Amino acid sequence: MTNPTETYYPGLEGVIAGETGISTISGGLQYRGYSIQDLAEKSTFEEVAYLLIHGNLPSESEFGSFKSRLASARAVPDAVYTLFRSLPTDANAMDVLRTGVSILAHHDADTGSNELDDSIAKAERLLAAIPTLVTAWARIKAGSEPVAPRSDLDFSANLLNMLHGAEPAEVERHALDVSLILYAEHEYNASSFTARVAASTLADLHGAVVAAIAALKGPLHGGANEKAVEVLEEVGTIDNAEPWIRNALETKRLVMGFGHRVYKDEDPRATILKRFCLEISPDRNATEWEEMATIIEKVMWDEKHLPPNMDWPAGRLYRMIGLETEIYTPLFVAARITGWAAHIIEQHSGNRLIRPRSNYIGPEPRGYVPMSERG
Ligand SMILES: CC(C)(COP(=O)(O)OP(=O)(O)OC[C@H]1O[C@@H](n2cnc3c(N)ncnc32)[C@H](O)[C@@H]1OP(=O)(O)O)[C@@H](O)C(=O)NCCC(=O)NCCS
Repeated sequence: MTNPTETYYPGLEGVIAGETGISTISGGLQYRGYSIQDLAEKSTFEEVAYLLIHGNLPSESEFGSFKSRLASARAVPDAVYTLFRSLPTDANAMDVLRTGVSILAHHDADTGSNELDDSIAKAERLLAAIPTLVTAWARIKAGSEPVAPRSDLDFSANLLNMLHGAEPAEVERHALDVSLILYAEHEYNASSFTARVAASTLADLHGAVVAAIAALKGPLHGGANEKAVEVLEEVGTIDNAEPWIRNALETKRLVMGFGHRVYKDEDPRATILKRFCLEISPDRNATEWEEMATIIEKVMWDEKHLPPNMDWPAGRLYRMIGLETEIYTPLFVAARITGWAAHIIEQHSGNRLIRPRSNYIGPEPRGYVPMSERG
């Protein structure tokens, strides 16, 4: 047995747990060398998805075939609808999505293969099908019929069309698309690391994605975008924003949407999305929420030196474009599937089982006492 490194860092804070060529936060967040500012401003979610899954930006013809592969993989087997209709309507949307991906695994001919080409093809198929799962459940839960995917719309327009049964306005499509670009990838975050740990056992892509969805659901990770909106709902008015946040800090309340393990001064994704929120809020009757958010941000910064993270503006943006809170974290999955897939493929391509050690803090060695003598 090799000697483990003696230093223990709770939560693995600051620990380099592996190598990746997918993204970095050093020198500003970049996906495969491209800054997120550039991507959010000039690219589209589908192009970023190609970049993450395939490694480079596509040529026109590569992009054309990618888009048509995605469009033709949007439909899901009837078994999904049958199962979704049998679930209690109060089932959590992330749990349902996790189950939905498991069903897709049973219907994918390449589920068990970790060959590079098969994994890429499976990643594309999951990317295409996840919005269908997310929107089908949202509609079934609301008592309406799912809307079939359309192959003539781009990723974000099709998603919103399946959700609302009507093509979205361009401002809504664009807002969602930018948020998906920013949610797509983030280095060794908890869910991507989960996916890598699962993949390092040579588990397949669907299995590793199911594990990642379970990790993303938690309120300290992806679940925070829904909780951030609940914070603002509780605050209610501009006048209540400052007393509310001061009271929250005094009572040591965790304010969802603030703080980050690796961004101590600024989450650049939050900065981009806040600008976006401010831009579209006047036409969306949401300036009051932006003002409440700004007051809370200032107090959090002045008192605790905590910046907002991406989930803080993302929740508001989704609310502004008319989305129900319960779908916010599933939308994060619709984007992050690209990053997860890239991590799983990268892990498989140079695999070493991830199996760290722990410090033992349990009882000293003791003898077994038969049950009848335990008293
Ligand atoms: C994301 C998060 C888990 C990072 O945690 P972390 O790196 O372990 O940060 P720490 O717990 O070391 O925080 C440092 C200090 O800030 C406080 N703090 C961190 N986030 C806080 C928040 N959202 N609200 C209030 N206080 C917070 C901690 O209580 C701690 O205070 P202390 O030094 O007085 O004990 C944490 O900030 C959090 O729970 N945020 C809310 C959930 C959220 O928005 N998650 C989405 C992340 S993208």
